[in-house]
Amino acid sequence: MSRIQINNLNVWFGEKDERVDAVKDATFDVPSGASFGLVGESGSGKSTILRALVGLVPTWSGDMQIGDLKLGLKRPKAFYKDVQMVF
Ligand SMILES: Nc1ncnc2c1ncn2[C@@H]1O[C@H](COP(=O)(O)OP(=O)(O)OP(=O)(O)O)[C@@H](O)[C@H]1O
Ligand SMILES: [Mg+2]
Repeated sequence: MSRIQINNLNVWFGEKDERVDAVKDATFDVPSGASFGLVGESGSGKSTILRALVGLVPTWSGDMQIGDLKLGLKRPKAFYKDVQMVF
């Protein structure tokens, strides 16, 4: 498993008056091979962070990196095979 680095991540939904800032300035680092628990009250943005990481939410800013791959809006096809939610 690759290292995961999240730096200054912001994720939002909607625009203008309807905008919801779901994640504000999240930063954390998961070392290669480690298990990581993300804890917070309901609605604090835990699921939204993971959705942005796996590429399911396009409205984000900041830096996300998995291994050597810096994530952008467009990701390599193989990414979606390798990085998925396990429900
Ligand atoms: N698609 C969406 N459109 C608008 N707002 C959203 C959307 N998804 C999540 N939100 C809002 O973003 C915020 C974070 O929600 P999120 O589901 O990430 O929280 P959570 O920490 O996973 O909560 P829980 O512990 O209940 O699972 C909440 O205010 C939520 O209402
Ligand atoms: Mg959740």
